[in-house]
Order: sequence, then structure tokens, then C-alpha cells
Amino acid sequence: MANEIRYFELNTGAKIPSVGLGTWQADPGVVGDAVAVAIKAGYRHIDCARIYGNEKEIGSVLKKLFQDGVVKREDLFVTSKLWCTDHAPEDVPEALDQTLQDLQLDYVDLYLIHWPVSMKKGSIGFKPENLVPPNIPATWKAMEGLYDAGKARAIGVSNFSSKKLGDLLEVARVPPAVNQVECHPSWQQNKLHEFCKSKGVHLSGYSPLGSPGTTWLKSEVLKHPVLNTVAEKLGKTPAQVALRWGLQMGHSVLPKSTNEERIKQNLDVYGWSIPDDLFAKFSEIEQARLIRGTSFTHDTFGVYRSVEELWDGEI
Ligand code: A2P
Repeated sequence: MANEIRYFELNTGAKIPSVGLGTWQADPGVVGDAVAVAIKAGYRHIDCARIYGNEKEIGSVLKKLFQDGVVKREDLFVTSKLWCTDHAPEDVPEALDQTLQDLQLDYVDLYLIHWPVSMKKGSIGFKPENLVPPNIPATWKAMEGLYDAGKARAIGVSNFSSKKLGDLLEVARVPPAVNQVECHPSWQQNKLHEFCKSKGVHLSGYSPLGSPGTTWLKSEVLKHPVLNTVAEKLGKTPAQVALRWGLQMGHSVLPKSTNEERIKQNLDVYGWSIPDDLFAKFSEIEQARLIRGTSFTHDTFGVYRSVEELWDGEI
């Protein structure tokens, strides 16, 4: 079957489906249908997070799909993420338990520290006074406990620079399996990619289409002439070309869509490839980070005084 999912292998030995459905900004009320459509179309990886506020609805749909025999739990890869307010070691297991309850699952396949940023427990929103200094080694130790308990079959991080990932690798007993970061043709993450590869950490790309629907971003990724030229030559859409580029770079991609036609289109990225001469053109694309994390930086609160510090210069 042309759309049969291909996998990458994690350092745990588990296989991560190379395309997953993103659920950030998939609103309650529509996310459930999107998950059902995706799984029926062949998706086997759903990327969730507590902060997205839609895990309950996803859980109800997953339960129904398991009951109806559409997919088996063991054939599905579910990711979730620990929010910044739950970094205290004693809060980590509770946060995962809440996610598991909402998703109606006994375990997640992958649990990630969402950001290298901590916020006061129970605080809501992105107010600077909510920021507190993170203690990633302590939070990671609690993540390792979840891995030992089997509630998270793999653990990892998200939005970590090469420096922060390297620092974590120095102290980790269980090395992170994944670093999930913004990655698309206009933010290719070459340095981080190389570093992850050298350390056996799988890179997973969020916003692989450059998040064209995010109103506060000025995203032109899918409009880039290179993508459009390649798409025209191959008879594909610019979105498919962006995703296929990611797969050929060696990372998994997590496109978000709540539209049935686009959900299906985004899985039609197997059984064809971008030939070398066209692939080479991607190196001409000018680079810019879209998700800068400005609200996680402040002159006095937290630890990051600037976006440069948050990303350790990788901007
Ligand atoms: P929609 O949900 O209406 O399909 P990203 O995954 O990079 O964050 O991008 C998600 C955005 O891209 C959403 O606004 C989504 O809208 C849109 N999108 C998803 N798939 C496609 C596609 N194949 N072509 C164009 N836009 C897409």
C-alpha cells in the first residue's frame, strides 16, 4: 500500500512512525474527528500535549477506535508532554497520570519535557512572573521514574538546543530518545540534527509546514519558490514536498490538520521521493526560526534573559 507508514527506530529499540498527526491548535470539538479520520486513513502516531487542552476528547475517540477494532493499542504510538508548571519532581508523575486519565490509556509511547522552561505550579498563562528557574536534571530524574514504571515507554525533550540536550546527556541515566523541535525547509536545524544523530537522539519535527494557520506568525514556508517548483515538477503539493523533505532528512514529521482531505494528503508522502538534484535546492532556502519562545524570556523572571539564551545562540 502506497500510504503504509514507515518507521524510525528510537534508542529504546521502539519504532516511531515517521508521520504523526499534530494536535496543537486542533480545537476541542474538531480534534476528535481529526484523530478518527487520521487513524482510519492509516496514521499510527498522534502527537498530544496536556497544554493543548484537548487530550480528553482525544481519549474518548481512541477508546471508541480500540473498541470498534479500528486499531489496536499496541499498533498506535501516542506522545504527550509535561507542561512547564509541573517540573517539580513530585509533580511529574501526577501530571502524567492526569494525561493518562484524559487519554484513557495505561501508558504513553513517548513523554517529553515540553520546554526547558519552568513555571510556578498551578499558574495559568504566559505571564513573566510565572517563570521560575528550571532544574532540568531533577525533572529528568522524575521522567526516568516514569520510564522505569513503564508508564512512558520512552522519554525525551522538546525545544532543547544542542547545548541543553548535551548538558542533559551528561547527567541522564536514561538518555532522551527524542528531541521534538520546530523543523521545516525554512528552519532546517542542521547543527541540532547532526548533534542528535551523533548522540542517537531522534529528531522529531513540529510545525513541519511552518504552521501557516497560526495568526501571530508570518509564515511563508509553503509559499517558498523552491517548494513550489519542486511540487510542480513532481505533481505534489508544497505541503507534501515539505513533509517528504523532512523524511528524507531523517526526521519524523508531525503535521497538524483537522481537514479530512489535508489529513489524507499529508500521509501520501511514501512511495515517491525528491530526487537529489531537486533536494539540493533546499540548501538555498533562507533560514528563520518561527517559534521563538519570546514569552519564556524576561529581564528579571526565570533564567533566560533573551531568545539567544533560551536557544543558546541557535536562532
Ligand atoms: P488545517 O487544519 O485547516 O488543515 P503545522 O503542522 O506546520 O503546524 O501546520 C498546520 C497548519 O497547516 C494548519 O493551519 C493546517 O490547517 C494547515 N495544513 C495542514 N495540512 C495542510 C496541507 N496539506 N496544505 C496546506 N495547509 C495545510
